[in-house]
Amino acid sequence: MTVTALGLPSVLKPAARGAAGEAPREGPLIDTFGRVATDLRVSLTDRCNLRCTYCMPAEGLDWLPDDRLLSPEELTRLLRVAVTRLGITNVRFTGGEPLLARDLEHIVAATAALVPRPEIALTTNGLGLKHRAEALAAAGLDRVNVSLDTVDAARFAAITRRDRLADVLAGLRSAQRAGLGPVKVNAVLDPDTGREDVVALLRYCVEHGYQLRVIEQMPLDAGHQWRRGQALSAEDILTALSHHFDLTPDPRPRGSAPAQLWQVDGGPASVGVIASVSQAFCAACDRTRLTADGQVRNCLFATTETDLRSLLRDGADDAALEAAWRSAMWSKAAGHGINDPGFVQPERPMSAIGG
Ligand code: 5AD
Ligand code: SF4
Repeated sequence: MTVTALGLPSVLKPAARGAAGEAPREGPLIDTFGRVATDLRVSLTDRCNLRCTYCMPAEGLDWLPDDRLLSPEELTRLLRVAVTRLGITNVRFTGGEPLLARDLEHIVAATAALVPRPEIALTTNGLGLKHRAEALAAAGLDRVNVSLDTVDAARFAAITRRDRLADVLAGLRSAQRAGLGPVKVNAVLDPDTGREDVVALLRYCVEHGYQLRVIEQMPLDAGHQWRRGQALSAEDILTALSHHFDLTPDPRPRGSAPAQLWQVDGGPASVGVIASVSQAFCAACDRTRLTADGQVRNCLFATTETDLRSLLRDGADDAALEAAWRSAMWSKAAGHGINDPGFVQPERPMSAIGG
């Protein structure tokens, strides 16, 4: 079984270069490799009510202080700049756990009111989604991805350090009923039990009509414990699944989607495998990120950030915010470099960046 490599962008498109090597002042949100960002990930909070071992220590982290968090009004303003001036067409809210953010429904509704209306998605751990799915759909949320690494209650409690599997499963069902589909399940596998977990997880997802997407674990844990070769690779995951399912490459074009899709037992069910480490898809990356404290990151693995919050609080107008965001993206690196000898893990963990 092979996994398609998209690799790193190697050709610098001269047409993309602005005057004096600066970011273009208008047009799409482009970088020096000609990649266009249309997909914005917004982390709404760095807090979480789970403590997944690959993400957070048991005691949690030093949360961002309230005065550094964007207010809903500040965030809505940046979203308007992104959609109306920078060509963002897809907005995904993440965390930490975005359901813990105040005013989520309000923020979704404000996003849905933008013209042209972007597609709006949410990546959540599913806790409490049962009570919120209807209201979120009514506010304009289109889709959800629910993080779930196992359907075994004891394993779930071991991975997340909380005994909450039933709440997550209830959240998934409510999302499906509220029309927040196709409902996707994001799984990061445990190196020891993942080969078993993923088989039961796929069975469960196929049965309930959720689309499973298995993500290779990346070096974004708060404890910097990630070690090369320890996490399961896409190849490992596909091998484990192929002992139980007949997997055939999905014929649909992949575009910039990071998941390589496989039809399960002849379809229509499918499973996606995201080989973020072993087969980087940086060449097709169309993402830009905003943290809960108002910093633009041009990559999950960026080592620098652009401070829109300070600009905004210092009275910058929309044109200045737009220019700063363009300049942040212009300097996006070719790839995450995880596989380079000199790779340095970003200081912020995933929970503070947004997945
Ligand atoms: N590598 C890959 N995915 C991760 N996630 C959290 N930490 C990591 C990591 N180190 C996933 C979560 C969730 C999404 C926000 O990112 O499981 O689905
Ligand atoms: Fe919370 Fe997601 Fe981190 Fe788990 S992976 S602790 S659900 S932020």
